[in-house]
Amino acid sequence: MDLKQHIRHVPDFPKPGILFYDISTLLAHAGAWHEALNRLTETLRPYKPDVLVGIESRGFLVAAPLADRLGTGFIMVRKRGKLPGETIRHAYDLEYGEDVIEIQAEAIKPGQRVVVLDDLLATGGTMAAAVTLLEKVGADVVGIGCLIELTFLNGRKRFKMPVHSLLSYD
Ligand code: PRP
Ligand code: MG
Repeated sequence: MDLKQHIRHVPDFPKPGILFYDISTLLAHAGAWHEALNRLTETLRPYKPDVLVGIESRGFLVAAPLADRLGTGFIMVRKRGKLPGETIRHAYDLEYGEDVIEIQAEAIKPGQRVVVLDDLLATGGTMAAAVTLLEKVGADVVGIGCLIELTFLNGRKRFKMPVHSLLSYD
């Protein structure tokens, strides 16, 4: 099955000159979404993760069903102010200003094997911030997964652990 046929290309979104790869059409197609999850499941199984982490918000869509398939728990890395209880945060620079992501302080036990998931790897800034946060709380980040990678942005160069993408665009 050619899964790329299920990614909608939207020119000039969210800004003129940007080509947006829309996963909505993949998610909406039962067979294609099932196949996408099957493939990622088998790619990530050898990492033997203890938990899967998803990055808010679209990363949740990928990580939660994969965690169920791999028989692991699912943990959320969220944007600022969304998680109750004690949290650990990491602030990172954006083109203009900064952003903050958080995880619950007790969510991960030191040394746990973690695979981090998002829908899209573009510059890798979001994923790099999540990896830094997870390492701050003692996680052993053993792998990274995403549905789509924009290879021309070279985001994967930021990471010392393996990066797996289902579909790549250059
Ligand atoms: C998008 C996408 C990734 C990130 C990729 O998230 O879902 O998380 O950007 O870009 P990067 O590799 O350059 O950091 P967005 O911030 O648009 O939010 P959303 O997931 O809540 O829609
Ligand atoms: Mg996102």
